[in-house]
Amino acid sequence: MSTVYLNGQFLPIEAAHISPLDRGFLFGDGVYEVISVYQGKLFHAQEHLDRLNRSLDAIRLSSPFQKDQWLSLIHELLQRNQITHQTKSIYLQITRGTDTKRDHLFPSADTAPTVFIFLMDLHPPGYEKLQQGFKAITYPDHRWDCCHIKSILLLPNILASQTAKDNQATEALLIRNGYVLEGASSNVFIVKNNVLQTPPLGKFILGGVIRDIVLELAKQNHIQTQETSITQEALFDADEVWVTSSTREIMPIIDIDHQQIGTGKSGPLWHRMIRYFHALINTSTSN
Ligand code: PDD
Repeated sequence: MSTVYLNGQFLPIEAAHISPLDRGFLFGDGVYEVISVYQGKLFHAQEHLDRLNRSLDAIRLSSPFQKDQWLSLIHELLQRNQITHQTKSIYLQITRGTDTKRDHLFPSADTAPTVFIFLMDLHPPGYEKLQQGFKAITYPDHRWDCCHIKSILLLPNILASQTAKDNQATEALLIRNGYVLEGASSNVFIVKNNVLQTPPLGKFILGGVIRDIVLELAKQNHIQTQETSITQEALFDADEVWVTSSTREIMPIIDIDHQQIGTGKSGPLWHRMIRYFHALINTSTSN
């Protein structure tokens, strides 16, 4: 039985309950993070906690904990679940707490936020599976213009993801005004003439932790990068397309809307990048 953290207590998941008046339940009024744990070690947790702070600031909710307090809660959760060398994901959610009524306005200042942290299984696809490549669809981006906030309001992303699944695809690439912005739960990269391109940060994408790592690994390894808007035409015309996230790592996309991308196989730059990425995971877990 897994142990979770809820509002100051570590308890079995079956015993963790929140009120139906929680603003996360009523309004989707909250933010979240997903942090990978490889072989029992947190992967780039600082970057996730920085983004959590940015999300909280953006929704005007003050963080109930400092970074070191978050880290000690997470470490205690891992310890209580006897995670020493397993691969997992940490899910962390904060909502604006439980009010006494349903009201759009913020609750009184002394309302404690709801904090929930639990462990999820993480099964990174692994090199053999990844290199076979994956299918994607394009899908209209129905989201708001604050996609840089990691909000728990995910209905447009859910509908996009389910439509991808219904079409035997693994990700939906979101299109707004003729440009591809990101996946329903991932960032997007294309390779054209050996240049690695990804849409720039801004209000229409979530600044992914893996996105930053990929850009950094590219720079370290003399791969030319460009943070630039990518049209739908450029997407289909790319030599390679990848999606990245904490749960998918770096996934090559070889087919979009039943059209072959590049050679229809995972491309040479992806093969280089996944080696750099897996080497980084290994060094991050070996100390
Ligand atoms: N999602 N863009 C969106 C819309 C996302 O939901 C995610 C991750 C990313 C990639 O972020 P990162 O590299 O920091 O994982 C980009 C998580 C995994 C989820 O919702 O489960």
